[in-house]
Amino acid sequence: ASIPRFTRAMPLSPVLRPSLQSSGAAFYRMTMRETTAEIVPGLRTRVRTFNGSFPGPVVRAVSGRPVVIVQTNALDVDTAIHLHGGHVPPESDGAPMDLVPARGGSRAYVYPNQQPHANLWFHDHAHHMESENVFRGLTALYLITDDIERGLNLPSGDQDVPIALRDARFDSDGQFVYVMGDFQQRNVILANGSAWPYFEVEARTYRLRLFNTSNQRFFKIGLSDGSEFTQIGSDGGLLAAPFPTTSLPLSPGERADVVVDFSRYPVGTRLVLSNGQDGPDALTAQLLQFRVVAAKGPDTSTVPDVLRTLPALPPATAFRDVALSMDEGPVAPGTEPQGYINGRVYDPDRVDTVIPYGSTEVWTVTNTNRFVPHNLHIHLVQFRVLERNGRPVVSGPESGLKDTVSLFPGETVKLQATFTGYRGRYLYHCHLIDHAAMGMMATMQIV
Ligand code: C2O
Ligand code: CU
Repeated sequence: ASIPRFTRAMPLSPVLRPSLQSSGAAFYRMTMRETTAEIVPGLRTRVRTFNGSFPGPVVRAVSGRPVVIVQTNALDVDTAIHLHGGHVPPESDGAPMDLVPARGGSRAYVYPNQQPHANLWFHDHAHHMESENVFRGLTALYLITDDIERGLNLPSGDQDVPIALRDARFDSDGQFVYVMGDFQQRNVILANGSAWPYFEVEARTYRLRLFNTSNQRFFKIGLSDGSEFTQIGSDGGLLAAPFPTTSLPLSPGERADVVVDFSRYPVGTRLVLSNGQDGPDALTAQLLQFRVVAAKGPDTSTVPDVLRTLPALPPATAFRDVALSMDEGPVAPGTEPQGYINGRVYDPDRVDTVIPYGSTEVWTVTNTNRFVPHNLHIHLVQFRVLERNGRPVVSGPESGLKDTVSLFPGETVKLQATFTGYRGRYLYHCHLIDHAAMGMMATMQIV
């Protein structure tokens, strides 16, 4: 059955209110539970949620002000909640074996927010369950703000819009079809939990905070009229300077802030947020539709030429190579393809990399597959991309703070990260979550 496009307004995820707020910290309660959601018009899909909302509610945090979230798990499956991009102590990082037990278990996650503004998100990370749990809905956004961001006069209020983009697959009753590693058939696009919605915009500038929360799908985001927009932020917050572009790649887990000027369109214009990754005829070539209406007030927002000063890069003290791969082509009958980091499948009991506390490391990361794209996400840190395929990265979308970086087949990137703040075990892995579940994950221990 084909799903009608652009017939329903894009939902905005509810902002979660703290259950308790002191001058020092904010406390939240969330319950993970199963419910149904109208994702496809007219049908109810069974989903796994935070607090019954698909995707979960948005947490708005302030840099320097801790957040505590007590998670209660009313699902029939174990979970482990990871704050993606968060600089958090190891016991709150949602390690794969560090579970919130099914049917009533609960756990307090402590997020110190000792980090600058950034668009983070949280999602399940339970060993071998993360892929299906994320697919079925266990994701939510977590936005940290700070004085740097608030000191700018960027579009705000109703003109500051978080949009979580992902793909999904449904059966004819509108139920999710989850098949591990399935990629081709997850060809329905969801924006904030709704299949191909429209979004009404006034004829003025908007800040769109784009998240790729797909398990495996890469996007190449653009506007259907090919016109320019401005990227102002990436995973770890604002770029140093705005970057005008017509095409924005976003691999699973990555985020980008863009500013779009809708005042250049006549009222009544309809245009589409498009995805050039799969070609113009693909079902997935359209993400959502904008409908331009008259501006209700003056637009005094601005995008300055300098957005922030990025931290200086300290000299590197260690160098490592990281090779990502997974089985391509046929594997032995009855076995699933496996994923590898430096030739090894993930083992929760093994430490793969020991990192001295405080060190600054340069990692040369290579996708050694011939056909399969990957990416790399490192927990705990925001890193910098020094080079892509031997070319220095000096400006543009990859020049800011990053926690996830894409690697198409054969590509190599050089990253630099400084490991401070906490000691303990953290993960690094491919963020095509199905690949992580197939073993493309490793443990680093900061000592
Ligand atoms: Cu967003 Cu280890 O993950
Ligand atoms: Cu991968």
